[in-house]
Amino acid sequence: MAEFDTRTLQNFDHTYVWHPFTQMRDWEAEDPVVICRGEGPYLFDTDGNRYLDGIASVWTNVHGHCRREINDAVIEQVNRLEHSTLLGLANDRSAVLAKRLVETVPPGLCKVFYSDNGSTAVEIALKMAFQYQLHRGGRHARKSCFITFRNAYHGDTIGAVSVGGIDLFHGVFKPLLFRSIQAPSPYCYRCELGGTRDGNCPRHCLTELERIMADNAENIAGLIIEPLMQCAGGMIAQPPGFVAKVRELCDRYDILMIADEVAVGFGRTGAMFACEREGVTPDLMALSKGLTAGYLPLAATLATQRIYDAFLGDYSEMKTFFHGHTFTGNPVACAAALASLDLFESDHLLASLPAKMDLLEKRLAETATREHVGDVRQIGMMAGIELVVDRGSREAYPWQDRIGIAVCRHARKRGIFLRPLGNIIVVFPPLSICVEELEELMHGIESSIKDVTEGKYP
Ligand SMILES: Cc1ncc(COP(=O)(O)O)c(C=O)c1O
Repeated sequence: MAEFDTRTLQNFDHTYVWHPFTQMRDWEAEDPVVICRGEGPYLFDTDGNRYLDGIASVWTNVHGHCRREINDAVIEQVNRLEHSTLLGLANDRSAVLAKRLVETVPPGLCKVFYSDNGSTAVEIALKMAFQYQLHRGGRHARKSCFITFRNAYHGDTIGAVSVGGIDLFHGVFKPLLFRSIQAPSPYCYRCELGGTRDGNCPRHCLTELERIMADNAENIAGLIIEPLMQCAGGMIAQPPGFVAKVRELCDRYDILMIADEVAVGFGRTGAMFACEREGVTPDLMALSKGLTAGYLPLAATLATQRIYDAFLGDYSEMKTFFHGHTFTGNPVACAAALASLDLFESDHLLASLPAKMDLLEKRLAETATREHVGDVRQIGMMAGIELVVDRGSREAYPWQDRIGIAVCRHARKRGIFLRPLGNIIVVFPPLSICVEELEELMHGIESSIKDVTEGKYP
């Protein structure tokens, strides 16, 4: 693929591409790495350098890059049918995938509404929850508001931002947003309610959540949660039992529970879905990222029969869910998703995870003893390492220091690709990573943290 050399490609990129979540003035000042190939957990640039993909290509990759079985399924599908709409037609791949998904997700979720990215999966869940309450009628028709959590991230479309809880990303758009109520984030390391992690925490965050529900239940359509781990907000792990308690409270106050499993679904937590780990079935569930194992844009919003039934009626009753996207149910993306589900089975992927999760835990425990590591948080095959100026006082590095970026730059020199969340180093490798590669990843991360925070690297 030597059509253009690296310098030319960098020039094209600098001249024509506007990158997401990027200060482009900084970007223009550096020579970007140009990725052109992938194999297993590795990415390769146009100069032939190899990088271990420590963030699974923004939390999407499951079985490694360029898995032959998924490649074959995509090629076979492209040669048969590249796209056909779900507006007025069915297609074979989206029908089969919907059946497989319903058989895989927590019991009770039984209808699949397709879209093409995590934000739209969330938008759809919010709109379904709102319209469901409207169709119930009477006092329920007033239920139009949502509960979310501080530090929540559900995507970048306006509805998803309305239920976001990260001021840095979301603050500027406030005038465009609908109202939501933020409950405290279960950020135990920096508990905003003065709780501790010693097992005797009175869980004031849940008490406050219940108070919010009790005060506002008649106006609340639904609550949205990233179960087990708030990812983009800083890899904030929820204490055991939190998700189950949220489910219980939603039931008590007649509030729909929306589980955003866009990042944590498809094996990431060690179970197929995070909700499973707490025996919970949400009313609505948003899936994307790992759905196609990181191959193609596809998303699904799953709903219960109760919600689906509320949209049935005579056409004149206007109960139709008027929402849809051009590429809804794209058969190529569905073929990739089906091949991925097959690989979960044939590779015994879930059964292979506990050994790797144990190794990750062990290596994180070692990292946690470093002078400038304040906290490590792990759920299954994902983790966050929070860097601090001082462990005793938990003083955060000033954001202007860009310490996370410095660590990730250093790791790149060691052949490891990472992307931080502020002062938090994210560990999120493809689930198929083997033990040796995971060792390589953790060794690279730890060395980079040590060199940067202990001053051996500018
Ligand atoms: C929990 C969660 N929800 C939604 C999204 C948005 O997904 P997308 O970037 O595909 O729109 C993300 C993306 O990181 C996410 O982590």
